[in-house]
Amino acid sequence: MKKTVLVSGGAGFIGSHVTVELIQAGYEVVVADNMSNCDLTCFEGVKKITGRDDIPFEKTDFCDAAAADALFAKYPIDAVIHFAAFKAVGESVAKPVMYYKNNLGSFLNVLEAAGAHGCHNVLFSSSATVYGEPDVVPVTERSPRKPATSPYGATKQMCEDILRDTVRATAGTPGEIKGILLRYFNPIGAHPSALIGELPRGVPNNLVPFITQTAIGKRECLSIFGNDYPTPDGTCQRDYIDIVDLAKAHVCAVARMMDGKMTEGCEVYNIGTGRPVSVLELVNAFQKVNGLKLNYRFAPRREGDVTAIWADPSLANKVLGWKAGRSVEDTLAAAWAWEKHLAGK
Ligand code: UD1
Repeated sequence: MKKTVLVSGGAGFIGSHVTVELIQAGYEVVVADNMSNCDLTCFEGVKKITGRDDIPFEKTDFCDAAAADALFAKYPIDAVIHFAAFKAVGESVAKPVMYYKNNLGSFLNVLEAAGAHGCHNVLFSSSATVYGEPDVVPVTERSPRKPATSPYGATKQMCEDILRDTVRATAGTPGEIKGILLRYFNPIGAHPSALIGELPRGVPNNLVPFITQTAIGKRECLSIFGNDYPTPDGTCQRDYIDIVDLAKAHVCAVARMMDGKMTEGCEVYNIGTGRPVSVLELVNAFQKVNGLKLNYRFAPRREGDVTAIWADPSLANKVLGWKAGRSVEDTLAAAWAWEKHLAGK
């Protein structure tokens, strides 16, 4: 029988790409989302890409414990991938209570409902933000977690700890929970079909949506935040990971959990390419691969940005059998195709 995976926050950017890859790998997927930060565009795209019109969709707010419980009662869920969370760093600084309440509350309810309904596998969507400003790059999973620089980052660290504690407490009991923490670096791009991608509301905080919106004419000019960092070209360096590559890592992790291959109750993996790319390099690559000129200027540093961070992904490469495959150029071409698709071009 096919295994069923619940994807919380499954209508969003990462959740929709993960849903596609899970379905294509032969899993049944239940998509649940409270639609607080997205519409049905990506879910409709997922149905088109997979040719599946019958993917169960539930409008569920995981902060509602009864609703979370009802979902686990309704479907035979073998594993849950938890994405449902707020993710804007700046907003979290302005509205910490909202962030702690939403990001912690929803995850606690998922864990409680999973435990109550015999779902033993929990994958949590974490972030490289847990490493803060690293002393040494690339970072491995053993690099220290630094104090969070925003409430958003703090919720990622706290949810990691909550899952670890739950795994420890339930080990060997009938309600045993196994956990995998995937720490994403900077997910960018879109599905090659251009039917799903990133759909930020309002002014984008993240670099690539700002670039594509500037290129299409929705924004006048990209501000590159800081060109006086101690990096080769003075702009920050990140590990930009293609969204489809990232989605495939979830399939590998879910398979490892369900096939009983885990060697620890809670495993953690960096999901990145291992390749640092500066903001300027990314902008230049975007211009080159898409044959256009981008209007940009240098602006002061953005508060809270780290200088440089990229992954050592060798653990995921070895243990999960996963490796990032797409080039930055292909990824940026896909991001541009998606922006044009949105504009009806
Ligand atoms: C942030 C979060 C990360 C989160 C990710 C996705 C931190 C420290 N980082 O990553 O946890 O998972 O967003 O939401 O919590 N930039 C510009 N101009 C722009 C926008 C960005 O120059 O208009 C630069 C930034 O200064 C940075 C790089 O582009 O150097 C990437 O920024 P962004 O896409 O926002 O991601 P992060 O801040 O790395």
